[in-house]
Amino acid sequence: MTEAKLEALLQESRAFPPTAEFAAQANAQPSIYTEAAADPLAWWHKQAERLTWHTEPTSTLEWDLPNAKWFGDGMINASVNCVDRHVAAGRGDKVAYHWVSDIEGESRTITYAQLLDMVCKAANAFTQLGVKQGDRVAVYLPMIPETVVTMLALARLGAIHSVVFAGFSADALSSRILDSDCRFVVTADGAMRRGTPSPLKPAVDEALQSCPNVQSVVVVKRTGGDVNWVEGRDNWWDDLMAPQSTEHTPEYFPSEQTLLIMYTSGTTAKPKGIFHTTGGYLTHCITTYHYIFDLKVDTDVLWTAADIGWITGHSYIVYGPLAAGATQVMYEGLPDSGGRDRWWKIIAQYGVSKLYTAPTTIRTLMKWGDDLPAGHDLSSLKLLGTVGEPINPEAWMWYRKNVGHDNCPIVDTWWQTETGGIMATPLPGITATKPGAAMTPFPGISLDVVDNEGQSVGNGEGGYLVATAPWPGMTRGIYGDPERFFATYWARFPGMYFAGDGAKRDDDGDLWLLGRIDDVMNISGHRLSTTEVEHALVGHPMVAEAAVVGASDDTTGQAIVAFVTLKLSAEEASKDQAPLIEELRQHVSHTISPIAKPRQIILTPDLPKTRSGKIMRRLLRDVAEHRTLGDVTTLTDPTVVNMIAGLLETEGAED
Ligand code: WT7
Repeated sequence: MTEAKLEALLQESRAFPPTAEFAAQANAQPSIYTEAAADPLAWWHKQAERLTWHTEPTSTLEWDLPNAKWFGDGMINASVNCVDRHVAAGRGDKVAYHWVSDIEGESRTITYAQLLDMVCKAANAFTQLGVKQGDRVAVYLPMIPETVVTMLALARLGAIHSVVFAGFSADALSSRILDSDCRFVVTADGAMRRGTPSPLKPAVDEALQSCPNVQSVVVVKRTGGDVNWVEGRDNWWDDLMAPQSTEHTPEYFPSEQTLLIMYTSGTTAKPKGIFHTTGGYLTHCITTYHYIFDLKVDTDVLWTAADIGWITGHSYIVYGPLAAGATQVMYEGLPDSGGRDRWWKIIAQYGVSKLYTAPTTIRTLMKWGDDLPAGHDLSSLKLLGTVGEPINPEAWMWYRKNVGHDNCPIVDTWWQTETGGIMATPLPGITATKPGAAMTPFPGISLDVVDNEGQSVGNGEGGYLVATAPWPGMTRGIYGDPERFFATYWARFPGMYFAGDGAKRDDDGDLWLLGRIDDVMNISGHRLSTTEVEHALVGHPMVAEAAVVGASDDTTGQAIVAFVTLKLSAEEASKDQAPLIEELRQHVSHTISPIAKPRQIILTPDLPKTRSGKIMRRLLRDVAEHRTLGDVTTLTDPTVVNMIAGLLETEGAED
């Protein structure tokens, strides 16, 4: 974002102070900031008491950059914290999830007592299959209760789940399985999308052709479609669960037992296996959930409208809410499954009080018109949240007015797969909110905006967002690659965690996120690296070279634009290339995921390169966003970029 654009945003933005009514009953009081700042470690230690420890930790933090141990001598079981303890405290009949199907009219209500039975059965079943502490298990499932049950059952055994978003391709799944050497896979026959089954099992079968170490596959029946079956390897979920006992005695593990791996895109073609451990991560999730969502556990119905295949789902559909004993809506479908007012129907039907989603979805709902939310009773809503990408003030204002009826604070929460939980956000009842600003670090979190030399910038200035002190939910590393972990996050600014985002402090000192400053794109709140998509394109036999940029897009935040040179003769090159462009888009979709499908592919005879051979992505982004071109003097052939700009005007295959 340009300086001028940011200034314009700041000009038009108004601050909304908390209402007196909200402030009076809010979980957090203004003193929370001073208390936490006075002794962050003591403050976090106190927050860790929200959890049930088998052995209470005496230590808080052992820090040997970049290696952290939080509550290191504590012993804990994540699944006991999410389920057993609520049942033991007499809250077994409380609803954990109102699961709402893609298909209208279909739902399941799961209480904490029922969840405990399901988790115990699954823990027994996984044990029978041979799953042991420390084993990695890939989970490739849609948004169904069995996904949560699987994660908790694995956590209960000290096994490590690696949930792979069910929209990822067979290739993406196999590379993730191989990278962390998963021995088991839990999947489903398919997922429901707008009432139509979309198969999942074929991708698993294809992926496992290159994963000889996977010994067992468990298959949940969701769609009832035909599946290919490998005898001795594949097991139906229902058949495995039926004979199991609903009793399972948990073991306790060190606080630093690895709980989960979540792959995320970095700046290279190979996704990073970000791993999180147990005690610190759970402390971060439950504490942020309590304060930021102003959790009123007895009356709230909360809905994090995200997929469990991403970190938002892990931290704020599974671990944070369940550890807190909350009641949630979990929705399987798309925003328009069953009609474009489906969300508003769900909020009205279940009396949802807190809604948390991504800007891209808000913009989509906004496009569908104000009369849709206006046609439903949304008066149960008390708080709205957003996450995943910078939110434009227009969408923020629409969300506030048409969904929150000017009555709900909006928490714009900045965080990352790596941070485990929310790092910057307003606190409802305390912090004013501004359309488009994440405002301030969460208590106990130290963030700064620094310049190239790592010096803190002043108010009204921009720079790089860093964390200047460790925090409980921080990733403990990249699975199997400690060097890359250090180089990616800890080497750029000595002593600080470098997030990869640009940020600015406004004149009041409040924090605004400006987007990634590296080669990471944010498509509908999904992180993808330019290199990953280039790699996929170059994997096509017709492609010689590819350069990919994220160009701004009204709905998806950014969209992928690819510049491709072909291995074609002049004769072939003169043919109609629309079918080939479509083939390349499908190729990327198949290689990575439909999310990665370029919005636009521009076939060009050449790419703009510096004299050292580096592709000038900055210029290509200017071209893709129809901007006047910046400095081209370092190019080997400055005419190339003008030629590409010309191609874009005449041949751009947009859809
Ligand atoms: C990247 C992390 C955090 C869960 C979902 C995404 C961007 C995230 C915000 C926000 C501006 C945001 C950043 C960050 N981002 N939240 N509120 N305002 N940007 O997790 O896939 O790890 O992506 O998402 O660029 O680095 P992720």
